[in-house]
Amino acid sequence: MDGVLKIEASLACANFKNLEADLKQLSAAEVDFLHVDIMDGRFVPNFALDFSVMQSAKEITDIPLDCHLMVEDPERYIERAAAAGAAYITIHFEATRQVHRALQQIRNAGIKPGIALNPATPLANVTYILDDVDMVTVMTVDPGFAGQKLIPAMLNKINDLRTMLEASGYSRVDIQVDGNVSLEHIPAMVKAGATNLVGGTSSIFHEGYSIEAAISKIRTLVSQVRSV
Ligand code: DX5
Ligand code: ZN
Repeated sequence: MDGVLKIEASLACANFKNLEADLKQLSAAEVDFLHVDIMDGRFVPNFALDFSVMQSAKEITDIPLDCHLMVEDPERYIERAAAAGAAYITIHFEATRQVHRALQQIRNAGIKPGIALNPATPLANVTYILDDVDMVTVMTVDPGFAGQKLIPAMLNKINDLRTMLEASGYSRVDIQVDGNVSLEHIPAMVKAGATNLVGGTSSIFHEGYSIEAAISKIRTLVSQVRSV
C-alpha cells in the first residue's frame, strides 16, 4: 500500500453557527482535507452544501477541499467545483451514464478524480476505470445523512478493494471511507486498507470531545494499527 493516511473533516457536520471557529480548530489540528458533501435532493434524499460554502471555507482556511458530489449527472457541476477550489472531485458511479467521460472531465480540469460506490454497488465496476481515478470511495453507509450506522459488510468491501488494487498494480489509488468513521471503527477500516478517513458526527464533530481531541485520538488509533 502506497497511501499516506489522510484525515478528512466532513464540513457538513461542522457547527454552522460558528463555522470560522471550527475551521480554525481543524486548521490548527492539521487535518488533511475538508470533505465537502454536496447533495441535490435527487441522488440522495437530502440537501447539503454548495459551492459558495467551499468558497467561504477557502477564505478562512487553506485546508485543501475534497468535493464529494452526491448529485445526479455530476458532469453539470465539475466546472463549478473546480472554480470553487476543489483539490479532489468525487462523483458517484451510480449518478451518471458516462462515468469514464465524467472522470476525464475532472482530470482535464486539473483536479484529482475520485469515484464513489454506494454500499450495494459491486467493486467490479471500477475494474476498467482505475487509470482514471486517484481515489475510490467506499460508502460505508447509504449516502445522504450523517449519524448512520456502519454497514458491516463494508469492511469486507474495503479489504477486497485493497486486494484488488494491489493485485492489479494500482496501489497508488487511495481508498476513502465515508460514513460512521468512528473511533470504534477506524482501526478495522485502516487495517482493511483505507487511506482517507472522513470524520463527521462519528468522530471529528462528536458531542463528547473537542475537534482537537478527536483528531489526536484518530492519529493515535492509526499509529497503533499502522505500526504493526
Ligand atoms: C453520508 C455523509 C456522512 C458524513 C459523515 O452521506 O457523507 O457519511 O460525511 O458523518 P458521520 O460521521 O455522522 O457518519
Ligand atoms: Zn461524503
